[in-house]
Amino acid sequence: MSTLQLNLLLLSFVFFHILHLATVNGVAIPTQGKGQWQLLQPNIGIVAMHMQLLHNDRVVILDRTDFGFSNISLPNGTCRHDPTERAVKTDCTAHSVEYDIATNTIRPLFVQTDVWCSSGSVDSFGRLVQTGGDSDGERVVRTFHPCPTCNWNELPNRLLVRRWYATNHVLPGGRQIIIGGRAQFNYEFFPKKTSADFSTHFLPFLKDTADKFRGEENNLYPFVFLNVDGNLFIFANNRAILFNYRNNTVIRTYPTISGGDPRCYPSTGSAVLLPLKNLEAESLEAEVLICGGATRAAFFRAGQGTFLTALNTCARMKITDQDPEWVMETMPGGRVMNDMITLPNGDVLIINGASEGSAGFEYAVNPVFAPFLYKPNEPVGDRVEELNPSQIARMYHSTAILVRDGRILVGGSNPHGNYVFKGVMFPTELRFESFSPPYLDAQLSHLRPSIVSPNNQSYSNLTYNQSFKMQISFTDGTVAPDLISVTMYAPPFNTHSFSMNQRLLELNNGELRHSDNLTFEFDVRIPRSPFLAPPGFYILYAVHQGIPSEGIWIRLIREENEISTQLLN
Ligand SMILES: *[C@@H]1O[C@H](CO)[C@@H](O)[C@H](O)[C@H]1NC(C)=O
Ligand SMILES: *[C@@H]1O[C@H](CO)[C@@H](O)[C@H](O)[C@H]1NC(C)=O
Ligand SMILES: *[C@@H]1O[C@H](CO)[C@@H](O)[C@H](O)[C@H]1NC(C)=O
Ligand SMILES: *[C@@H]1O[C@H](CO)[C@@H](O)[C@H](O)[C@H]1NC(C)=O
Ligand SMILES: *[C@@H]1O[C@H](CO)[C@@H](O)[C@H](O)[C@H]1NC(C)=O
Ligand SMILES: *[C@@H]1O[C@H](CO)[C@@H](O)[C@H](O)[C@H]1NC(C)=O
Ligand SMILES: *[C@@H]1O[C@H](CO)[C@@H](O)[C@H](O)[C@H]1NC(C)=O
Repeated sequence: MSTLQLNLLLLSFVFFHILHLATVNGVAIPTQGKGQWQLLQPNIGIVAMHMQLLHNDRVVILDRTDFGFSNISLPNGTCRHDPTERAVKTDCTAHSVEYDIATNTIRPLFVQTDVWCSSGSVDSFGRLVQTGGDSDGERVVRTFHPCPTCNWNELPNRLLVRRWYATNHVLPGGRQIIIGGRAQFNYEFFPKKTSADFSTHFLPFLKDTADKFRGEENNLYPFVFLNVDGNLFIFANNRAILFNYRNNTVIRTYPTISGGDPRCYPSTGSAVLLPLKNLEAESLEAEVLICGGATRAAFFRAGQGTFLTALNTCARMKITDQDPEWVMETMPGGRVMNDMITLPNGDVLIINGASEGSAGFEYAVNPVFAPFLYKPNEPVGDRVEELNPSQIARMYHSTAILVRDGRILVGGSNPHGNYVFKGVMFPTELRFESFSPPYLDAQLSHLRPSIVSPNNQSYSNLTYNQSFKMQISFTDGTVAPDLISVTMYAPPFNTHSFSMNQRLLELNNGELRHSDNLTFEFDVRIPRSPFLAPPGFYILYAVHQGIPSEGIWIRLIREENEISTQLLN
């Protein structure tokens, strides 16, 4: 082949490639940017170690109570007095705050017991139920109702054992399961219903996956997802099981990830359940994507001052397949302590973390400032794109969550055992910022749908398999009716790079009818079973050509068998 022929070939390939990327079903998609960062608050007073969005558009943020004084005071001279406290016995600063998205303001909250490395879920009533922590907090359950003046309610001794670095998941019946934690090879439920609930249930998988190599466990904060068959997919270290929590039975054991590198704390990577689709099909599919982590011994070596390169691989598996295999892919760079967020349009954002070291105090260097965007439906090799970088390092004890308007809120990072604001390479980080993914670019606003109905003022209450009318409108006539979808997102509890309960479902929608040139109406169906989406609050989005509307809150109600309120008190 001559050079000219080769050049022509390359040119036609490049041209084809551009065309391919720029059209979907023959409709031109404007090229998108690389996203934008904005500093929301120079100082929210605490480290955002744990974050959860509630359905009043406020974010509950928790730090740790024994780091010393935070940078925000409790109101009206309130103080915590705790003679067993590690750092200070009398502390008039807050270690939990509430961030109000609409007003961009912070309200200090009062938490008495230590929430360090705890876990949580929002229950079917929309209350945050947060569990465990360290020292005086290790067996405490704390509830937080979404209301402008509400505060933490602490329920001592409600957990059977210490839960530190555990993972929680909401179950189809409305309760939550709390799995593992340091030196806990068992699980329990909250609230408790039967006498069997008052003992822990042994889960050998949690013991078998602990590395016990010079302080490394590599199986803490396991990645847990509710599978479409109502069982739990539990991933720890480098492998997974499908687990029936109703009768304590391992249904299947999945293969180990190729290469065998660990992905869980302290070799912390992250994981998502990819969007669930075709929800009316007889047999449903579910896929899990795990990205980043650190090689075995990264934690131990970091303790000796050597920071090993983080893993640059992702592993993806169809967990509902008869004969499932992990398919390996690579990211543009290595990443440990990365967060993964399923965006309203089904793409996955990989954000925060470092490229060398492991989780743990002082154990990582070289923060990764640029998020990666992973597009699950593109061909392998074409899926990951690097976006615009932040200026702020977000490493150990940092978090990121999706909010209703499509932005990602990012906070935290404190790789130290105390608050250290000066004289270190990576100071305790109190700045709070947002990342607007490329779909929020202003030049795409003509493609952005607005949800006209259901009502966005008061959340709609919907039941399983219910069909409802949705109306969306556009400001401009360049609408591609074939490229409209509706998604439903469960806002997760994020800590230590894992987003517990995160799931995105693409709902079945009927044919679009024009109301007028810029308004469409169509029927949408709620998933048929709480196996697909446990009861509770979700954000509903309309998506057009990959551009999501602002979401609205809906509540899924399971009519029979709801957990009684009294059980919480
Ligand atoms: C903490 O608060 C004090 C007083 O408000 C302020 O001077 C200081 O700069 C703050 N520190 C940080 C790291 O924001
Ligand atoms: C603080 O005190 C004022 C005045 O007594 C009161 O109005 C306010 O509600 C108090 N705030 C809190 C959070 O307790
Ligand atoms: C657990 O329940 C599943 C589904 O109901 C059943 O197939 C299985 O046999 C049960 N296992 C045991 C050990 O009872
Ligand atoms: C509801 O929709 C109206 C009209 O589109 C909009 O102005 C308003 O901001 C929305 N409110 C919420 C809470 O999304
Ligand atoms: C949904 O139910 C709640 C609680 O019963 C109620 O406050 C709310 O108004 C309902 N939403 C709609 C749209 O009816
Ligand atoms: C859901 O509703 C449709 C029509 O209303 C009905 O045909 C179907 O059987 C229902 N599915 C389930 C699982 O209840
Ligand atoms: C809808 O579009 C058609 C053709 O572009 C135009 O003639 C008509 O006036 C429009 N109707 C409305 C209600 O905007």
